[in-house]
Amino acid sequence: MKILFSCVAFTVWAVLGVAASEAIDIYKQKVSDLVAQMTLDEKISMLHGTTGAYVGQTPAIPRLGIPALQMNDGPQGFRDDSHPGTTTSFPSGGTISATWDSDAIYKWGAAMGVEFFEKGANVQLGPGMNLARVPTGGRNFEYMSGADPFLGYKLTPSAIAGIQSMGVMANAKHWIENNQETNRDTVSDVVDERTRHELYYMPFQGAVEAGVASFMCSYNKINGIWSCENAVTLKQDLKETLGFSGFVMSDWGATHSTSILQGLDQEMPSGLYFGSTLLKQVQDGTIPEEIINDSVSRILLPMMQLGIMSTNNTNTLNNAVNSKDHADIAYELSAQSHVLLQNNDDILPFRTDKPIKIAIVGKAAVAPIIGGGGSGSVFPSHIVSPYQGVLNELGLSSINGSMAFMCSTDYEYDVGIAQWGCEAVPAATPEDCCTACGNYPLCENWVFSGSSCSMYPNDAHKKRTGYKGATSGSAKKSMPPTKWDCNAKAQCVAFNDGSAAVSLAKEADVTVVVLGTFAKEGSDRPDLSFNAFKTEDCGVVPPGQDDLVSQIAAATLGKVVVAMTAPGAVLMPWKNQVSSILWGGFPGQEYGRALASVLFGTVNPSARLPFTMPNKENEVGFTPQQFPGVNKVGNYSEKMLIDYRWYTFHGVKPAFAFGHGLSYTTFQYSDLVVTGRDVAVTVTNTGTRVGRDVPQLYLEFPSAALTPPLMLKGFTRTTALEPGQSEILTFSLREQDLSVWDDVETHYWKIVAGTYVVLVGGASDNLPLRGSIDVASHVYVKRG
Ligand code: BGC
Repeated sequence: MKILFSCVAFTVWAVLGVAASEAIDIYKQKVSDLVAQMTLDEKISMLHGTTGAYVGQTPAIPRLGIPALQMNDGPQGFRDDSHPGTTTSFPSGGTISATWDSDAIYKWGAAMGVEFFEKGANVQLGPGMNLARVPTGGRNFEYMSGADPFLGYKLTPSAIAGIQSMGVMANAKHWIENNQETNRDTVSDVVDERTRHELYYMPFQGAVEAGVASFMCSYNKINGIWSCENAVTLKQDLKETLGFSGFVMSDWGATHSTSILQGLDQEMPSGLYFGSTLLKQVQDGTIPEEIINDSVSRILLPMMQLGIMSTNNTNTLNNAVNSKDHADIAYELSAQSHVLLQNNDDILPFRTDKPIKIAIVGKAAVAPIIGGGGSGSVFPSHIVSPYQGVLNELGLSSINGSMAFMCSTDYEYDVGIAQWGCEAVPAATPEDCCTACGNYPLCENWVFSGSSCSMYPNDAHKKRTGYKGATSGSAKKSMPPTKWDCNAKAQCVAFNDGSAAVSLAKEADVTVVVLGTFAKEGSDRPDLSFNAFKTEDCGVVPPGQDDLVSQIAAATLGKVVVAMTAPGAVLMPWKNQVSSILWGGFPGQEYGRALASVLFGTVNPSARLPFTMPNKENEVGFTPQQFPGVNKVGNYSEKMLIDYRWYTFHGVKPAFAFGHGLSYTTFQYSDLVVTGRDVAVTVTNTGTRVGRDVPQLYLEFPSAALTPPLMLKGFTRTTALEPGQSEILTFSLREQDLSVWDDVETHYWKIVAGTYVVLVGGASDNLPLRGSIDVASHVYVKRG
C-alpha cells in the first residue's frame, strides 16, 4: 500500500506561529544535539553510498531515528527500470523551461516529488539546471535553464519548492560546467570567474535561494581541478559566496580523493574514498572531526526541515505511483510547453466546425520519441501517439493497446554491446521479453539474457559479432493501415508511415508530418539534423525525415504542419516550404494528447523558446578549442557570448530567436513607464482569441560594463486576456539584475555607472518598447 505524504515540518512550525529563522535555529540545535550522540563510524556511514535497491543510498541509524537516504533518478520523473510502467513520464526539464511559468514548474516538481515519496525515495536526483552552452549538448534536454542564466535563476526555485513540498530532498545538478557530454569525465573546462558568476552559477543561485537540500558535483574538471575536489567552485563559490547550507554529493564515480576539506560532503555511489580511508584520516588527525560534523549536519538539517526524520515513509519501489491525475498533469504541462514557431496563413488551429481531411504522416506519428536516454529516462505505462491524439480529438476509434506485433527470434546480437540509451526491463522468459517489446511503441527488437530484456528501436545491432547465446529477436509492429476515418462532421484523418505519404497528402486538406530526434546522457548529439543517431546506439530516429517534409510540402503547396519532438535546437531546412511548425521538446507520455489540443486550438500556445534555433550547424562558430576541447581542455573563451547573446552581438538573424513563440491571437505592447527600478508596460490582446503572452524585459548595459549587447532581466506571463483586453505588468529590477561581477576588487556584484537601456517585447528579436535607467556612480552591492 502506498502511504501519502501529508505535510512538511516547516508547515508545522508555521502553524505554531514560529518564524522561519527561529525554526531554523531550533533545527540547527536539534542537529547539533544529534551529531553529538553519533559515533564516528555512524557519521562516516552517512558520507558515502552503499549498495541497495535505489540508485544511491546510505544506511539508516535506527538507534538515533535517522532514516536511510534513498536517492533515485531522475530530473524529470522517477526512473524505475525494474518496475517499468509504474511511474509517469513528464515533459523533460529542457521542455518545461519553455513554459517560462513558475506555477507550471511548481506543479511539475510537486507531481514528481509525490511519486518519489510514494516509491520510498527521499532524494530526487534532479532537477538538472546547467546552461545549454552547446546546441548539440547531450543533456540539454534535462536541463531546465535553457540557454539563459536569468531564465534558469527564475525557474529553478519553483521546481525545488515543488519537489521539496512533498518531503523529498531535491538535488541541483551538475555543479558545475557539465555543459557537454563529450569527454565529460576527462575534460577540464577553463572558465573565468566573471563568466562563472554571471552565467553558469545563476540557475544554481536560484536553487540555493529556494533552500535546495543538496547539490551534485560534476564529472569534469574546472580550471584543471576535478569538480568534486575543487575548493574554489565548491567551498568558496558555492558554500561561502552563494551561502549554500545543504550537502554536496558527488556524481556517480566523480570522487577522486577524500576531498571533504575542499567542500565535498558525500561520495556516491560507494565509499572508495569517503569510507575507511576517510575514517583513517580522521583517526590519525589529518582531517579534523569538526569537518565531518559539518558535512553530517549539512545532510541532517534538510532532512529535519523537510520532515524526513519524523515521517516514517514505508513505501517501496514495488509501488505503482502513476495515476490518471498525473497523466493529466503530464498532458497539461506538455500542452503548455509546446512552442508554435511558425503559423503562416493561420493554418492552425484546425476548425472544429467544418469538414476537414487531415493526413498524419511519419513513423513518429505512431511511435514518437518522447524522452531522452540515460539517467533522465522514464519508462511509462503507455505513450499517447500523435495519431491516437488526433483520433481521440475527433471522437474516432482507438489504436493504442491494440497495435499488432509479430514475435520472432531470428536475430543475432552481441550481448556485450553497450545498451546505453536503450531500455532494459526485467523479464522471466524470451516470450515475456518479446511481449514487453511489442507493447512498447519504441521497441522493435529485443535481447533476452538472464532475467533482463533489452529493447532496441531498430535493428542497428543485428548480426553483431560475438553472439554468446542470448535469445534475441524482433517484435515488428504492423503500422496502422492507411485509411480515412471520419466523424459525423466529415472531419477525417488517415495515417501513413511515410512510404505512401505523398499520395495520401494530395488527398488531404492539410498534412501533419511528425518528426522526432533523440539525445542521451553520455554523448553529445552528432549534429542538429533530424537524421542524427540513425545508425548509432539505439538508432531511434526514423531515417529520411527531412526529405519526407520537403516531398510533402512540394506535393501540397506547403499545406503542411510539422510537429516535432526534439531535445533542444534542431535544423529545419524545409522551414520556408511549410506553413506551421510546432516544437514539443521531449514531451513525455501524453505527447499525442497535448499535440492534438494545440492542433485543434483547445490549448492556445503560450510557450517561448528557451534557446535559439540556429540556421546551420555550429552557427556560433565554436572552435575545437572551445568545444569539445583539445587535449582534454575546453576553453570557454567565448565568455558570455552564448546563444542569443552571440546572435545579437554579431547581428545574425537566427531561424527562430530566443524567447520567440506565437499564439493563435496577437499582442501589442504600449506605455512603458520607468519608475526608479520598476518598469511597467501594457499588453493588449489585439487578436480574436483568448490568449496568454510572455512579455520579456532585456537590458543593454552601459558600455563600461563590458557585457553582451542584450540580456534577459525580467519576464512574466499575462493572465488569459480576452480579445481587446489589456493588462499592465510591472517588472521590478533587483540590484543584481543591474550588476556585473567585479572580478578585480570586491569579487562580488557591482553596478556600473551609466545609462541602462530597457527593452520590452515578445521575444529577444521583437522588443518594440524602449526606456532607460540612469545610474550616477558605481554602486558596490553588499554581501548578503
Ligand atoms: C549522472 C547523474 C545521475 C547518476 C546516477 C550519473 O551518470 O550523471 O545525473 O544522477 O549517474 O544515476
